[in-house]
Parts: sequence; C-alpha cells; structure tokens
Amino acid sequence: MIDWVNTDQFLVIGHRGVPSLKPENTLASFELALELGAAGIELDVHRVEDELVVIHDDLVDRTTNGRGPVDQFTLRDLRELDAGEGEKIPLLAEVLSVVQDRHLVNIELKGDRTGERLAEFLKVNRKYQSRVLVSSFKYDELYKFTAQCPDVEVAVLSSKFDRRSIRAVKNVHAFSMNLSDRGVKPVAIATLHEMNVRVMVYTVNNFSRASELRDLNVFGLFTDVIQDLSGLQSL
Ligand code: G3P
Ligand code: CA
Repeated sequence: MIDWVNTDQFLVIGHRGVPSLKPENTLASFELALELGAAGIELDVHRVEDELVVIHDDLVDRTTNGRGPVDQFTLRDLRELDAGEGEKIPLLAEVLSVVQDRHLVNIELKGDRTGERLAEFLKVNRKYQSRVLVSSFKYDELYKFTAQCPDVEVAVLSSKFDRRSIRAVKNVHAFSMNLSDRGVKPVAIATLHEMNVRVMVYTVNNFSRASELRDLNVFGLFTDVIQDLSGLQSL
C-alpha cells in the first residue's frame, strides 16, 4: 500500500475519474481511472438530505438527464437520474467502498453543509480517514471540517496563490495547496515548500506540461486523461 502522505512518488490523480473516457464522477469512471494506473481519484460532493452525493455542478442539467438544483431533489429522485451510460449519481460511501485502500481519494467539498456532514461520516467510518484528502474552495466548509476532524489531511484549493489562500493554508494546517495550472508559478512552489506545504495542480491534460510540473517537485496533479499521464509516475 502506498503511504500517500509520505510518498516521494509523483501522484497522478484521475480528475472526476477519467471523464475523457467515461461519464464524470461515476463509479465506472473511478474504476477505469484506477485500472489505467491513477494513484487516486478526485471527486466532488454535495449534500442531499443527510447523504453526500458525488456530482460537480449545483445543477444536475449538464451531467444527467434531469433538470434543476441538486439540493432541491429528494435522494430517491436524484438516484433515479441517468448520469451517463446508465450510471447513477454515486453516494460518497459507495465510492469509498469500491476503492482499494492503496489509492488516495480527494474529496472536494462543493455544496453547502458538506464539511460538517463529511466529518460526521468519517468519525463513524474511521478506516477511511487515512485514505482521503479533503479540499475546497469554500474555506468555511474546510474550517468546519477540520474543527471536527483535525487529524484528516486537508488541501486549500485556489485558482491563484494569494493572501487569502495562504491564510487558509495556515488556519487549517493544510497538507497541500491545490492550485490551478495558471496560478502555479515557481515562486509559489518555492514559498509553499518553505512552509512545508505540498503543491498539487489542476487540471493538467498535456504530457509535457505534466513532466515540467513533476520536475518542479510538485507533489501531484489532477488530469482528465489518466490514460496519457499515468506513466509519468514511474518514469
Ligand atoms: O480539485 C481540483 C479541481 O477539481 C477543482 O476544480 O471545478 O474541476 O472542481 P473543479
Ligand atoms: Ca473538483
């Protein structure tokens, strides 16, 4: 099992699974990403009733055959939607139960009230605590999460390296800052490394750019094309 927290290996993570080949954020997509050599998967969660469901947008329109805001659905109706190729919108618990423990699962808190719910879930399902990295652009959700689960690794998401994101990194004792490819500059990497904070980059779909980032000692990256980039982990 890879101890992903301490690994020196460059991690290539399947962003929403492998959306270039399978419908994003579905079990089929996550399973294929891991078969194709991803070190882990990234997914997005919203809260519906008391469940965490795996979907990116606030609306179901783009990725399913339904219409409307995710949080206006009952869980039952949401689960009847087709998320592509007959796949359902998965529950977070279902995804975690099919991913082997050697793989990292990056859970992005997208929806409101997801931080507290995820903390409750992980306190009951402790075996998952060491396998997940919890991230968000919504720093309030991260604060609520870390207040309840201080031992689970968290990442601050940001499109740019700025004062607000640096403050959040300090406040939550972040494992990493997960920066957009546009926002990641050598000076940002150097500053974060001095702070003992790792750098991860989203979303990188080009092989030469991915190699460049690996050579800059970035800890890992998120890609839509794991089939093209997973080999970088062993080069
Ligand atoms: O976590 C990296 C990336 O997933 C953040 O952006 O919009 O794809 O969720 P987005
Ligand atoms: Ca995401």
